Amino acid sequence: MHVQLAFAPNVAPLPAPRRAARAIERVEHALDVPFGSANPLRQLGALAFLSFWVALGSGAYLFVVFDTSALGAHASIDALKGEPLLGGLVRGLHRYSADAFAAVTLLHLAREWAHGRYHGFRWFSWLTGVPLVLLLVADGMVGYWLPADTRAQFVATTIGEWVGWLPGFGDRLIRNFVTADAISDRLFSLLIFLHIGVGLLILLGLWVHLLRLVRPRVNPVRAGGVAFAVLLVALALVAPALSTAPADFARAPANVPVDWFYLAPLALAQGASPALSWLAVAAVALLLGVLPWTRRETRTPVVVDPSNCTGCARCFDDCPYGAVVMTPRSDTARFKSIARVDPALCAACGICVGACPRSDPFRRVPTLATGIDLPARPIDALRRRLDAAFVHRPGAAVVFGCDHGADVNLLGGRDVIALSAPCLGQVPPSFADYALRKGARAVLFAGCAEDACAFRFGAAFTHARLTGAREPHLHPRARGPRVQEIDAARGDETRVQAALNQQRESIDAVA
Ligand code: HEM
Ligand code: SF4
Ligand code: SF4
Repeated sequence: MHVQLAFAPNVAPLPAPRRAARAIERVEHALDVPFGSANPLRQLGALAFLSFWVALGSGAYLFVVFDTSALGAHASIDALKGEPLLGGLVRGLHRYSADAFAAVTLLHLAREWAHGRYHGFRWFSWLTGVPLVLLLVADGMVGYWLPADTRAQFVATTIGEWVGWLPGFGDRLIRNFVTADAISDRLFSLLIFLHIGVGLLILLGLWVHLLRLVRPRVNPVRAGGVAFAVLLVALALVAPALSTAPADFARAPANVPVDWFYLAPLALAQGASPALSWLAVAAVALLLGVLPWTRRETRTPVVVDPSNCTGCARCFDDCPYGAVVMTPRSDTARFKSIARVDPALCAACGICVGACPRSDPFRRVPTLATGIDLPARPIDALRRRLDAAFVHRPGAAVVFGCDHGADVNLLGGRDVIALSAPCLGQVPPSFADYALRKGARAVLFAGCAEDACAFRFGAAFTHARLTGAREPHLHPRARGPRVQEIDAARGDETRVQAALNQQRESIDAVA
């Protein structure tokens, strides 16, 4: 008999763009094979940061050699091709890191969207990301103006027409900035000021973007970061970034190469009309901006039980979203502090529940009331279901799963007790020990890969707790073949089944 026991879900099944999420998960999974922990799709935010730093560093060198006079700008940048090993390389790095920044950011946005990470408590992370896209495109446009070549001429004239279309700007803008007479030293000083200023604004925006995340991952895995940097260097050397001919406002520029990451709105403004281009930009910004409010909120945040909180601060240490703070308490002389939760920040992941020492199933209390708990999926329900299952199935194997990883309820075969939690991090390791004491033949923790955890730290903390690297530890008596873990994404149920069969066989072989 296969006993299916899932907690009643308090988080709706993964949201609308499910198929996109599945497709992305499949690609991510496929890339796990060659890349392992350096899988680029699992560290897009960190790779965007790396691209930004490379762009900033290479930009600093270009600033030193750049001549901000109208007559000298083109020559100063064009001359870099004469020194390929330093100037050319740095210019190429600047160009390709800027492109990588845009590409990786768009992938990061698409991935967060596909995984449904744009609403509820994540509205802040999402919404603070949207202006970053607009700023980076704007900064790229200004950047392409600086080399004073025919592409810069295209950028200047099209921006003039594009922005000039907006009410209140009109022809004056074109006259002031983009005619031959207006190309002055002052203009180039203004452009470089804008280019650097918007870059620094992006940096400020990134700080705001990460404000609600505890220990955000801003550095890629070393091997992945090095490979990424090597790729940028190779691109810069193999396909150097070059200027086109000097701008000539007496003639319209022809055959200008377009960098679609940054110049697409201008290409659309010229190919179709400025009005259509503005409409497209406004539609994308509006769509991204309202997305967090297109889905109903279904999460029920955790609640602290003062009579069970001892003020140990483990929940505070483990919360990935900074939703827990420790505050002084005056109602008892025994404990100095108590956990407090900000419901607006809480993801309802339950990682804090798995950290709380009061979630210990061995406690001899009729109801397992713990220090911090998910009201809709209390830890007591997990113990009750285990107890109930073992009445009929002594010797069954227990598989703890997570709502976002492989669906453990699909596991076939006799004698399997499947329990899915909002995040594997909600299941304290003592539950494995408890299941073994109840007679479980094997216990398997099947959750997402560490970098794919829907709640950032759930998978990593589960691994650390099971291996004794992080509190609460799995009791040493339970360590060994009888308690195992496996990374398994949605759709990986067959692999989980195979791992469970193998685990049982190896236990039988030793017995
Ligand atoms: C401009 C470049 C961007 C960079 C460098 C960047 C970087 C990051 C980083 C490092 C994280 C933390 C990852 C972690 O530790 O779990 C993150 C999270 C996030 N980013 Fe971005 N981001 C950028 C743009 C965007 C954009 C454009 C959006 C969407 C509009 C976005 C949406 C999010 C969301 C929703 C999260 C939270 C994920 C979670 O709660 O698990 N980001 N970003
Ligand atoms: S982990 Fe539990 S006992 Fe410790 S501070 Fe948090 S709620 Fe209180
Ligand atoms: S449920 Fe998750 S987000 Fe909420 S307080 Fe606990 S660890 Fe933090």
